[in-house]
Amino acid sequence: MSVSAEIRNLRRVLGLAGSEKALIGLIIMLAMMSAFFEGLGLSLLIPLVEVVTGETNGTDIAFVGTLLAWFGGTDEPDPVMVVAVILGAFVAGILISFVNMIVSNVLAIRLAHNLRLSVFDQVLTRPLSDVEGASRGKLINNIWEIPWQVCDAVFVIIGALVNLVFCLVFLSFLLSLSTIYTLALVLLTLVTASLVHLATRAVHALGLESKNANESFLSLTWEVIGGLRTIRAFGREGYEGTRFSDSSSRLSNILLRFKIRSGLVAPISQTMNILVVGVLLAIALGQGDSISLLIGFLAIAYRLQPRVAEVLGARTALQGFAAPIEEMVRALEPSPRRREGRNGMAIRQITDGIVFEDVTVRYPDAAAPSLSDVTCTIKRGEVTAVLGRSGAGKSTLASVLMRFTPPSEGRVRVDGVDLDKIDPTAWHDRIAVVEQNAFLFDASVYECIRYGDLSASRSAIEAAACAAEADDFIRDLPHGYETRIGDTGVQLSHGQRQRIALARALLRNPALLILDEATNALDRPTDLALRNAIRKTRADRVTLVISHRRETIETADHVVILDAGRVIEQGTPSDLAARDGVYAALFNEESRIAQDG
Ligand SMILES: Nc1ncnc2c1ncn2[C@@H]1O[C@H](COP(=O)(O)OP(=O)(O)OP(=O)(O)O)[C@@H](O)[C@H]1O
Ligand SMILES: [Mg+2]
Repeated sequence: MSVSAEIRNLRRVLGLAGSEKALIGLIIMLAMMSAFFEGLGLSLLIPLVEVVTGETNGTDIAFVGTLLAWFGGTDEPDPVMVVAVILGAFVAGILISFVNMIVSNVLAIRLAHNLRLSVFDQVLTRPLSDVEGASRGKLINNIWEIPWQVCDAVFVIIGALVNLVFCLVFLSFLLSLSTIYTLALVLLTLVTASLVHLATRAVHALGLESKNANESFLSLTWEVIGGLRTIRAFGREGYEGTRFSDSSSRLSNILLRFKIRSGLVAPISQTMNILVVGVLLAIALGQGDSISLLIGFLAIAYRLQPRVAEVLGARTALQGFAAPIEEMVRALEPSPRRREGRNGMAIRQITDGIVFEDVTVRYPDAAAPSLSDVTCTIKRGEVTAVLGRSGAGKSTLASVLMRFTPPSEGRVRVDGVDLDKIDPTAWHDRIAVVEQNAFLFDASVYECIRYGDLSASRSAIEAAACAAEADDFIRDLPHGYETRIGDTGVQLSHGQRQRIALARALLRNPALLILDEATNALDRPTDLALRNAIRKTRADRVTLVISHRRETIETADHVVILDAGRVIEQGTPSDLAARDGVYAALFNEESRIAQDG
């Protein structure tokens, strides 16, 4: 990875830190203070060694002389006072470092929280097709794992900055002790940096591999948990076990290579460190330098070494974090369609109805449009049934109304107003949908229904359950309305789940109610009772019922028949029957199949 790419990543991470960036300044300031105290303590080792060994030439070093002058004269340094100052300086350095550690953690944890919120917000608000197009493993990885990795990256950057500050402060102490020693040290450090760079070149690629492996591992795990019944029914436990083991081994493999490569930094720096001692000793012996100067210098150099290693390691670590950082930046990219219709018109009721005008929908990458020039009217106060074979475009039509799928051409008008001009939140507030496999949350029956209207009273919730023909079976559950259903509770039958979903939709008292094959799982008498219940409430709203069942048509006021995305017939049930067209053919076909059966 080039240096410019590294700088770009650095800026991206700091950009993600947002308002928490102010803390970074505080962290660096604290680091400078802590480095100063530690350097001071270490430098005072020189006069201490002089006092112990009886040497006197240490005070020739101007910088140490100045230091001693601060603490009461240079001629006869009081050993007790020097020791006290050394200890005091070290303790001050340690305390400031401790405070700095707390501030850094506050920054990292707040940042992870903010990033999680931002990604979650994107998942909730982006166009559905974007979100549903991503694998679940990727989404979970982006919400959970990636923010921590970005935090780790921020930690690495802060650590590198702090260590760099230490290095600079220590270097200035070292320079004032000896230029020649410092030059030798810097030279050897540069050699170390080059060696580390050579050894860890593969880390960037490994970081990307590990992110991808993590995503597919999470996707696989998610799939296995979701498809457990299918796996058991097909006896594929062994097959899934092998897939899981392969995926986990792949991940372990990459992580191991990643750790070994990143871990090369330490042994290289440590070896070079030993070399530094050897070289400095040789110079000291050659020049006949005082032992106190050498000890003082080495003490600071010894404390400097891990800091240098961390700065060098930071570069490698950041290369490993490049992939998660890029992923996070991508996940937070503002979506172009997000604001469409925001601050648009509010809507309380639909007074006339909804009109589709030459609506064509083409999904990205689809060969043919899923809806072509659809023109139809869905009136308030009527039940409109949409019929058609599987794949005819019925759910796509509902999806356009739910604003999950924008029309590629044509438009939809609600009481004459373009659907695009209506505020999406206001629109979603006034519609309710029940799909074929309605999703229920892992909560009590009561809470599941209340989801339709969070302010609803208990009696309203029970009334909605009655209207959805659900009240009887709910009362028979072990704890009635308080029975927990879903993943961790009682497992309901498909038809029971659908009725709870319907109660949730009815509780909303929506201006537009869409039932997309919602009652297919029910027995015919229950289905009929439900359709009649829906028919009874149709006066105040627009009702769209999508179904295959012939009976559905009988309780409809208006029928739209779709085939391959086109409206091939529409009218009242009796009109269509009289016309002897496709609708009649559908009837005849069904009755013929029923007779053959
Ligand atoms: N998200 C999507 N991306 C691409 N193509 C899609 C998408 N959703 C549906 N399609 C395609 O659009 C066409 C219509 O699908 P749609 O789900 O609207 O049919 P349907 O009439 O509801 O069928 P069914 O009765 O089986 O539910 C199909 O060919 C389908 O493959
Ligand atoms: Mg469908």
